[in-house]
Order: sequence, then C-alpha cells, then structure tokens
Amino acid sequence: MIEFDDSLLTHVEEMDKQHMRLVALLNHTYELLKEGKKEEAIGLFKREILFYVEYHLSEEEKFMEKIGYPELDRHRKAHDMFRRAIYDLAQHIEKGDPKAFREALSYAWGWLCNHIAKTDKKYAIYAKEKGLI
Ligand SMILES: [Fe+2]
Ligand SMILES: [Fe+2]
Repeated sequence: MIEFDDSLLTHVEEMDKQHMRLVALLNHTYELLKEGKKEEAIGLFKREILFYVEYHLSEEEKFMEKIGYPELDRHRKAHDMFRRAIYDLAQHIEKGDPKAFREALSYAWGWLCNHIAKTDKKYAIYAKEKGLI
C-alpha cells in the first residue's frame, strides 16, 4: 500500500489529481488481493488501471506540449517504455500466467512512484519557473 504523501506531489493540480487516482486504484487492487479476491483484483487491473494509466500518460504529454516543455521527447520515451512493459505483462495475465499479475502490480507500483517523484516533478519545476502554473 502506498500513502500519497508530499514526495509525490508535483503541485500541478490536474496531474496530482490523476496521480492520486492511480495510487488509489492500485491500493484498491492490493486490498482485494489481501481479501483473497484475486479475480476481482485482476478485473480491476484490466478494466480500470490499464485504461487509466493510458489516459494519464497521454494527458500528461498534452500538458507538457501545452507548456512547451523542452524535455518532452525524453519524458514520452520513458512513458512508452512503461506502456510496453505494462501491456506485455497484461498479455501474460491474459494467458493465465499466475506470476504475471503480482509482477505487473509491483512493477507498476515501483515505476509510478519513482517516475512521479523524479521525472514528473521536473515538468512542474519548469512550469513554475516559467510562471505557467
Ligand atoms: Fe505522471
Ligand atoms: Fe510522466
């Protein structure tokens, strides 16, 4: 479980809202697993998390475009790597690989926290410096 604390705040309001939603969805999935509701957890992952991850990454890319962020290409490449990894894992889950689901969850967890705290915060610093937020 992740606590959404200050280390994950970018102070770009819409992006923070989306990050919080992502963290809440992942926490919910973990809760379901803890209660032994694995099928429901997998369902939530496939139905909502995959959809919301893509929604968030593309909204964030639009935001970076809007503010003319010079590191957009590099940031998009990091997103693309995550997209590929997560969709790969989703295919393994689809094939019934029992380890794939836990792997996908812990990978998504680790990647998101690290990415928000280190990479996302940089566009926020840029936006603030330029007086755009
Ligand atoms: Fe993000
Ligand atoms: Fe990002």
